[in-house]
Amino acid sequence: MTMTMTTILLTVTVLVVVTSKVTSLPMGEVRDLTYNLGNTTVFWPGQPPYNFTILHRGYLQQNSQIWVEFNAVGMGEHGGTHIDSPAHFVKGRWRTHQIPASHLTGPGIVLDVSSKVKDDALYAVTREDFRQWEEEHGTIPDRAVVLVKFGWGERYPDPKRVFNTEHPEDPSTYRFPGLGRDAINWLVENRKLTALGVETASPDVSNASDFPAHTILLGNDVLILEYVANLDTLPPRGFHVIIGVIKLEDGSGGPARILAISGAEAAGGYHVPNAVVMVVVAMMAAVSVGGRGGVCF
Ligand SMILES: *[C@@H]1O[C@H](CO)[C@@H](O)[C@H](O)[C@H]1NC(C)=O
Ligand SMILES: *[C@@H]1O[C@H](CO)[C@@H](O)[C@H](O)[C@H]1NC(C)=O
Repeated sequence: MTMTMTTILLTVTVLVVVTSKVTSLPMGEVRDLTYNLGNTTVFWPGQPPYNFTILHRGYLQQNSQIWVEFNAVGMGEHGGTHIDSPAHFVKGRWRTHQIPASHLTGPGIVLDVSSKVKDDALYAVTREDFRQWEEEHGTIPDRAVVLVKFGWGERYPDPKRVFNTEHPEDPSTYRFPGLGRDAINWLVENRKLTALGVETASPDVSNASDFPAHTILLGNDVLILEYVANLDTLPPRGFHVIIGVIKLEDGSGGPARILAISGAEAAGGYHVPNAVVMVVVAMMAAVSVGGRGGVCF
């Protein structure tokens, strides 16, 4: 009887774990939310492109066994996976080296609006989208790094697909989604954000000439993350984000290595992976049903 109960419980546990959607990362997992910096890195027109110049690849001297490589790198600040510092759009605010280290990390959440963007490339995220997210997943945590998934990541680094135009050299033809003014206002007035990240070139919809996301977010010291990669590998919450921007003196932004790290501790004790909960529940049930015999599995 005990063995039977235990077997049933274990089978149910295994089935539930195997068939449930992945809603959390394994404890201690690290996800890289960064594209390579390279010759294909996407820049807004007019920004100096990536210039990687090999200065030396060879042995230190003739007859030396020691191999040495070094290169020079030059580029505009706002290409590929990067941040916008508050000074980028608001006079007198933090430049890149002035952003406190404590403002380069926070609990991450993902709002997925890719199904809405599929029918409307100029979709503007609304306050209602965030209300629905909170209904399902709880209040957006303090110091949050809010990541908005448009389903745009697979377009990178093809400029025609990233900017959604046949003329990547002409920004007036761009068609990509973003966040609406009401959503941005609601976020800065009602929640405490560290940063807001998107897979696209900008959190403003491509046809928004007054840049509400840039001016309001940066005016409230909320960093902007652009061309964030691999959002499809993240759960809606339960991870921490590290924004490893280079410490560029007087910069208006800069390339960043952005990482997501899972784990209950990293997420402020909020999140325990479902599989762990289920195994613990199954073990407790087996022990209580089977009495002493419950430990036999
Ligand atoms: C990138 O472009 C530079 C300059 O044209 C070239 O020397 C280099 O080989 C390219 N690198 C790659 C990985 O294609
Ligand atoms: C690229 O960088 C190298 C090394 O700093 C420099 O000599 C070269 O002029 C740069 N090329 C361009 C197109 O800016």
